[in-house]
Amino acid sequence: MALEAHSAAIAAQFDYTDDQVNSAVNEFRRQMTEGLETDGTSLSQIPTYVTGVPNGTEKGLYMAVDLGGTNFRVCSIQLNGDTTFNLTFSKVAIPRELMVAKTAQELFAFLAKQVELFLQTHHEDHFEQHVRRRMTMSSPDGYKDEHVFRLGFTFSFPVQQVGINKGTLIRWTKGFDIPDAIGKDVCALLQDEIDKLHLPVKVAALVNDTVGTLMARAYSAPGKASTVLGAIFGTGTNGAYVEKLSNLKKPLSGEYDKTTGEMVINTEWGSFDNKLSVLPNTAWDAALDKASPNPGIQMYEKRVSGMFLGEILRLVIIDLLKDPKVSFFRDENSSSNDWKSTTNIVSDSSIYTQWGLDTAIMSVAAADNTPELSTLRGELEKQLGIYSAGLDDAQAFKAIANAIGRRSARLSAVSIAAIVLQTGKLTDPAYADEPIDIGVDGSLVEHYPYFRDMIYEALRTIDGIGEEGAKRIRIGIAKDGSGVGAALIALVAAGMEKRLTTADYLGELRSNAKRNNLTVVPEGGETAAQD
Ligand code: BGC
Repeated sequence: MALEAHSAAIAAQFDYTDDQVNSAVNEFRRQMTEGLETDGTSLSQIPTYVTGVPNGTEKGLYMAVDLGGTNFRVCSIQLNGDTTFNLTFSKVAIPRELMVAKTAQELFAFLAKQVELFLQTHHEDHFEQHVRRRMTMSSPDGYKDEHVFRLGFTFSFPVQQVGINKGTLIRWTKGFDIPDAIGKDVCALLQDEIDKLHLPVKVAALVNDTVGTLMARAYSAPGKASTVLGAIFGTGTNGAYVEKLSNLKKPLSGEYDKTTGEMVINTEWGSFDNKLSVLPNTAWDAALDKASPNPGIQMYEKRVSGMFLGEILRLVIIDLLKDPKVSFFRDENSSSNDWKSTTNIVSDSSIYTQWGLDTAIMSVAAADNTPELSTLRGELEKQLGIYSAGLDDAQAFKAIANAIGRRSARLSAVSIAAIVLQTGKLTDPAYADEPIDIGVDGSLVEHYPYFRDMIYEALRTIDGIGEEGAKRIRIGIAKDGSGVGAALIALVAAGMEKRLTTADYLGELRSNAKRNNLTVVPEGGETAAQD
């Protein structure tokens, strides 16, 4: 079969029809309900103890760190109280060996060191006090309370949360694998290492990145409808949404504020439908799963998120390269190559190694509409050592890559739609004509061309949403959301420490909101935050 027909047939295996999208939405909603009722289900539906979203009036200087994918980020955030903030951050790649370290301590010591470097670079005043103290004292105690930074810890892995700054790791995802950390309180692990360096920092809140994204979006885009969902489509994927407490049937162990009648739920939707009742499963999906560190788990994430799309494509390409019936990245002689050369793949090309194809090249393929696909061909050479790829090769590469990317976007529409329908806001007259606001972050949704357009295209075909509903759904980027969100939750936690009552805090928020003509959705917590 000619290459063009062959690649079209492969691309077709990644089609996910409107009917399939609709059945998946129904199944997603069923699994959501199941997760709200029982522990240990496919969709974990983890209660976060955060019982409201911010309204933009919060103020203060907080720190946040973010561990969740390829990079570790440290930031400080000045919340200005008028829906704006100022953010300073540093970012460092996590060394691969630490992702699979023998002990949790090795990883967390590295993280604490980055916090120290950040303070040294960006908050010299705090850092100097720390150096003086380190020379004169052996204990971190004795800092004046106002000199201790409250830090929100965004930890983007499934955690059983038992309080605002306490939670045990359920399982690793996204290529991390340090069995020693499973079942341990990740806040305590970080605090111990921070204390060893005598830093004036207190880990005040534990936050999943999706919860942070939801908080950040709600802070920046307050309004009547408020934000209903924070979602990540990046290295991994997940979403957190605001659920009615009356729907949350499984028992909760920690204390929380019941007055709002709501709680933010971390769905951990990466593990939606691990049994594959509605998810697609090509031979390449199955091969990827089999070779992964966590077979049978995170099955939705393995079809949607950035860490995996490149690997699916790589596995397809390897099969094509081995197929004697198709001539892919291979020329009989220079006359069959439009550049009048012959294609060569260097023997140490990363195409031959697991995870060796970076998903970013799929964005290049989707964006390249030049007649000769010259940008894509340049990247194939630069990133994968594929020299003089022919136009037909590049077209086949692009067709298959696009099909994998499109399937990911259509699958992403499934979780978004299910949650929008679950909130009931599309049909609630109280919200008539109001936008249904969704905050998203992550490399895929930010950089993959037309990702959001493809999500909207699928949303329009979903029962209960349709053209009209899709128009009301506002999907907006909440860039760096998790850091800002973690700071907002650290603020709640700082208030809790100061033992303000919930009534004090809500009263303050309400009067602020009145001044600013906003609708208050109060912050959660047993007690409350202050400026
Ligand atoms: C993790 C989630 C996280 C998501 C996005 C997933 O692998 O399980 O906790 O929110 O990645 O970072």
